Amino acid sequence: MDYIYNDYEYFNLIDDIMKNEKFKKIEKCMHHGLSRMDHSLRVSYFSYKIAKKLKLDFVSCARAGLLHDFFIQEDLTEFEQKISMFVHHTVALDNSCKYFDISNKEKNIIVSHMFPVTLFKIPKYFESYLVSMVDKIVAVYDFGLSASFIMKKRYNTVNTSIFMFMIFCCYFNNL
Ligand SMILES: [Fe+2]
Ligand SMILES: [Fe+2]
Repeated sequence: MDYIYNDYEYFNLIDDIMKNEKFKKIEKCMHHGLSRMDHSLRVSYFSYKIAKKLKLDFVSCARAGLLHDFFIQEDLTEFEQKISMFVHHTVALDNSCKYFDISNKEKNIIVSHMFPVTLFKIPKYFESYLVSMVDKIVAVYDFGLSASFIMKKRYNTVNTSIFMFMIFCCYFNNL
């Protein structure tokens, strides 16, 4: 993660978000087997880099990418926690609007990031599709990383077929 923390140009764009006390709480939330903060930073940073290369709105990608999973367990009811895959995008949007001044494009990036799981929250901008795609790729990477930690700890090895099967199961279980 050092390559992200050392990119000062990128960090200037998200500085206020990273300093927010409520946002800092996602560091302690488990997401795809890792920290939600690490997941959000990866989604934000890779979306930002790709958007920059494609001459898209990289500021919105960086900020909304970081905020796309902005929720903690206490924000969800017991029932919502069981179906978080289908509701967390609206909670993330509510939190983002409450704590930050965000544009309509950033709102759409956040609320549509689970598309097509959330069929009626459709991406309206190219940046929304970009962040949504990067989120899915990073989710697979996160699951793989967390599965490899578990395999190494339990069996002191990483069997490729079991490892791929675990990624497959996890991916379809919770994006
Ligand atoms: Fe999400
Ligand atoms: Fe995500």
